[in-house]
Amino acid sequence: MYQKLDLDKINRNEAPPQEEPARQYYFMAKCRNWVNAFTQENGRPPRACVTTFGCQMNARDSEKLMGILEAVGFCPTDSEQADFVIYNTCTVRDNANQRVYGRLGELNRYKKQNPQMKVALCGCMMQEPTVIEKLKKSYPFIDLIFGTHNIYKFAELLCASFETEGMLIDIWEDTDKIVEDLPVDRKYPFKSGINIMFGCNNFCSYCIVPYVRGRERSREPKEILREIERLVAEGVVEVMLLGQNVNSYGKNLDEPITFAELLREVEKIEGLQRIRFMTSHPKDLSEELIEVMKQSKKICRHLHLPLQSGSTRILQQMNRRYTKEQYLELAERIRREIPDIAITTDIIVGFPGETAEDLEETLDVVRRVKYDNAFTFIYSKRTGTPAAAMPDQVPPEQVKEGFDRLLKLVQETAREQVAKYQGQVMEALIEEVNESDASLVTGRLSNNTIVHLPGDASMIGQILPVSLDECHGFYYTGYCAYKETK
Ligand code: 5AD
Ligand code: SF4
Repeated sequence: MYQKLDLDKINRNEAPPQEEPARQYYFMAKCRNWVNAFTQENGRPPRACVTTFGCQMNARDSEKLMGILEAVGFCPTDSEQADFVIYNTCTVRDNANQRVYGRLGELNRYKKQNPQMKVALCGCMMQEPTVIEKLKKSYPFIDLIFGTHNIYKFAELLCASFETEGMLIDIWEDTDKIVEDLPVDRKYPFKSGINIMFGCNNFCSYCIVPYVRGRERSREPKEILREIERLVAEGVVEVMLLGQNVNSYGKNLDEPITFAELLREVEKIEGLQRIRFMTSHPKDLSEELIEVMKQSKKICRHLHLPLQSGSTRILQQMNRRYTKEQYLELAERIRREIPDIAITTDIIVGFPGETAEDLEETLDVVRRVKYDNAFTFIYSKRTGTPAAAMPDQVPPEQVKEGFDRLLKLVQETAREQVAKYQGQVMEALIEEVNESDASLVTGRLSNNTIVHLPGDASMIGQILPVSLDECHGFYYTGYCAYKETK
């Protein structure tokens, strides 16, 4: 409803409203003063670039940032030689932080060439006090800094930064607020991420997320369903329900509801064809969820089930609250109940105190579960987390060796798993024209495997039967079986 508001009808001379999201629409209207003045002065509207680091949650947040920038009159661009550049940062591992610092130097050069340029930083990394200190000291050219909890106030902060000289910093410690109905600029017309919850309460001992994203908050189911219905009306056929731990969705709502119950409701939305979700914590994955997935016609045959380690001793140190055996039992049950499902995972190598035997346990789980894909990470020490203070940080050479062994094994099992479907016809959602060969399009199977096939842009957004001719490790080449039979 709000997204269709005519911003020019908002009276910018009155005091801003207190309630949300009306307050943000007021500031969007106010930002237009700056945009209009820029356009008059330069003979063109200002260009804005949003650069995303990190996970799907950040990608979704970036769509919201761009939605607001477009609503106030910026033209989107992928080039950082723009008039407004915002980095939506990640801090889950230290290399994410280093990448941001590395690129800030470049932004400073662009800003010297274009003194009107504004640079902003937001997201998880900004929730760390040491980062803010470093930015204040070494990167004074930054105009605006805010965190994860007040991202819904972007329009207001943007407006304030237009009216302020120097660096404007606004970081909140936490929030229990969820603001609905702000503009979003979606990257794909046919698929979309949907936040169903924010934050995390798990405090895995290596992980900084609970500190930078705050406590778990679930959106009301009716808000989620309303958003998906609206997206479907706009042409979306696939949704990805997003949360750090979707399996604990709804527990803290006034009227509690389980994630499985939410899925049942989403399934009923007419016109919606595919449902994905991310991420599941093994400790909270219920029988009910397996049952709902098994019966569903729309839930994709893919489950991302982070293992982190296969050693019960390390899992305990990680505060994961499951054992190797419990995880294996769960994975086996899922494969038994839903045989065509793809299981993917996250694994960390080099957690403090990890021994060669612990790594063997992890390799053993990989061999047994036969992951369809796995993201492997080298443990990164995050200041403030319990693991950072643990003794026996593993020497880098040992970590590297273990990491290489794990990666090799993971690639072997993934190849084997992906190849299982060679020669079959499966449905693929056609997502884009292939980047390196314009005579091909790229589709995604329900189990998340990629397939390249001859085609053109007219097929984008359609779910088509595709013959999986040849497996090339992690992807297939094939052809559209539908056209063939016609
Ligand atoms: N070091 C390495 N990997 C980490 N992850 C989270 N925190 C760390 C860390 N400190 C990984 C976990 C998680 C994924 C998103 O990132 O595997 O599932
Ligand atoms: Fe981090 Fe664990 Fe929460 Fe995932 S579940 S975000 S790894 S604390």
